[in-house]
Amino acid sequence: MKVLFIGDIVGSPGRNALKEFLPKIKAKFRPDVTIVNGENAAGGKGITDKIYHEIREAGADVITLGNHAWDKKEVFDFIDDADSIVRPANFPEGNPGTGYVIKKAGNKKIAVINGQGRTFMPPIDDPFRVIEDIVEEVRKKTPFIFLDFHAEATSEKQAIGWYLDGRVSAVVGTHTHVQTADERILPGGTAYISDAGMTGPYDGILGMDREVIINKFLTNLPGRFEVTGGREQCNGVFITLNNITGLAESIQRISINEDRPFFD
Ligand SMILES: [Fe+2]
Ligand SMILES: [Fe+2]
Repeated sequence: MKVLFIGDIVGSPGRNALKEFLPKIKAKFRPDVTIVNGENAAGGKGITDKIYHEIREAGADVITLGNHAWDKKEVFDFIDDADSIVRPANFPEGNPGTGYVIKKAGNKKIAVINGQGRTFMPPIDDPFRVIEDIVEEVRKKTPFIFLDFHAEATSEKQAIGWYLDGRVSAVVGTHTHVQTADERILPGGTAYISDAGMTGPYDGILGMDREVIINKFLTNLPGRFEVTGGREQCNGVFITLNNITGLAESIQRISINEDRPFFD
């Protein structure tokens, strides 16, 4: 099974970059399933029903979220009816939406789980135990299990990667918007990367207008963060899984920008 993951879509530049690059990436890798993190898709924070459909139509089979999941209130109007969107599974009980979905991928099924870290993040339930319980549940239905672990600290990301090694197909980090170069297959067979990176503005700071952010560092005065424009980037990973065991056979970073132009 071939799995494509695209990191955090930031605002309309991110959606444009997705529409521009996803068809080319798909033509090269021919994934069976495409997973896209959409937590910043609406103006840099959150997601709306319209944008959910826009990303689905652009080619995403499943959309994952993160700490910005609830930033656009419209999300509450559709998330319980949408079958292809997941929010962090360890949000406290009573939150709308679901923490995992099982989707058809070719003639197989893949479980896509979203989790969120707690280090330098809002306090929520223990991701390790919540995700472990889900993994035990979904393993009865499919050996193909993908986790988007949305977290700040590389230590926490590595910890959950090693904790789940051999029990899931892939642990892919999101949230920092900066792609890490530590992609590997752990000894038990789980594909791992600390962060897949973001999709959207290339010349901002994490996709936001850099003047506002620099000024905040200089003055500590409040500023209104806005998605910036200009050149674009698209980041993600492509993972191949053994068709019987569900364990990873390869993981490859995708990083497209003007310094690293599109691969052939
Ligand atoms: Fe993000
Ligand atoms: Fe985030």
